[in-house]
Amino acid sequence: MIPHSKPTLNKEDALAVEDVINSGYISQGIIIDRFENEMAGYIGVKGGVAVSSGTAALHLSLIALGIKEGDDIAMPSFVCPALLNAAKYIHANPLLIDINPLSYNIDVADLKKKLTHKTKAIIVPHAFGLPSDIEDIMNIGISVIEDCAQSVGATYKGRQAGSFGNCAIFSFYSTKVMTTGEGGMVLSNSDTLLNRVRDLREYDHKAEYVMRYNYKMTDMQGALGLSQLKRLNSFILKRRNIANVYNERFSELGVAIPSVPPERGHIYFRYVIRNRRQKTEDRRQKLEEDLKFFEANGIKCMRPVYKPIHKYLNIKGFQETDKAWNELISIPIYPSLSDSDVKDICEAVRRWRETGY
Ligand SMILES: Cc1ncc(COP(=O)(O)O)c(C=O)c1O
Repeated sequence: MIPHSKPTLNKEDALAVEDVINSGYISQGIIIDRFENEMAGYIGVKGGVAVSSGTAALHLSLIALGIKEGDDIAMPSFVCPALLNAAKYIHANPLLIDINPLSYNIDVADLKKKLTHKTKAIIVPHAFGLPSDIEDIMNIGISVIEDCAQSVGATYKGRQAGSFGNCAIFSFYSTKVMTTGEGGMVLSNSDTLLNRVRDLREYDHKAEYVMRYNYKMTDMQGALGLSQLKRLNSFILKRRNIANVYNERFSELGVAIPSVPPERGHIYFRYVIRNRRQKTEDRRQKLEEDLKFFEANGIKCMRPVYKPIHKYLNIKGFQETDKAWNELISIPIYPSLSDSDVKDICEAVRRWRETGY
């Protein structure tokens, strides 16, 4: 079975972690400083603060931006519940936005329609590694957290995703483009924001009490992060090469391929294909069958978003998100796929296409 996702790890990664263990200093220390500086340098912003997860990065970013109980935070519905959790942690309200059906990113028209004086922040994921309409969103004039959990290294007009917003968050969970096992980071050009996040991530040795957290990242994780960052460009190149093979082969098969505007650099964290079966109402059930079909053919595929937020909250009115949830299949794409794996995946898609998909 070809797994749906897999971290790209090698001996150098293992040695980097081993060095930290041998040093005897394994918790947050100078390796974390280095990881933060190198990540900030890569994205092209002033600084960063490493934390224990992408969710922790979102949580502390919201507090540092001054978002309070009762404020609204705009976010797309077609994402994992980490964004909803971060809003709930501070007793703020999620303001759910539909997606653009071509990019699967937040729909700017729907966003503008729903904004009110209560909306104090917008969380903008670059879904599946494709940058969102970040310039238009920045022009709205509300605080923006770019969510780069799926898009480290993606670009918009040649500039790194994560360098536009008031701050950006990253996740280094094991299946992300680069990993520290679990982990996250906040990057920003604002010293004030970074200092606030840095203060909040640990609770001890403080002159004054405010409620703080234990969201630190260890030097063992930081060493893995630094080692992965060295190879990040090669990871992205490999993902793009595989996407090119898929694009070419799927175009021949008549399977729709991702639409990427020329000013955007997609990193293909996910590669999704659409179930276009006859009747719309059949598609959800068919999707389950499609996933089983691929599994029977040795390929583990998944829904790119397990369940949209509005479904968890039992609210309606997200037409494009519903469609994407009913139709999208995420197929394996990661650097350690061999040429023969890629061939097998293309062959399975060909067979799937023949079933009438
Ligand atoms: C878009 C997005 N934001 C945030 C997160 C949360 O990251 P973490 O799992 O590190 O808490 C994820 C995780 O999958 C994600 O996909």
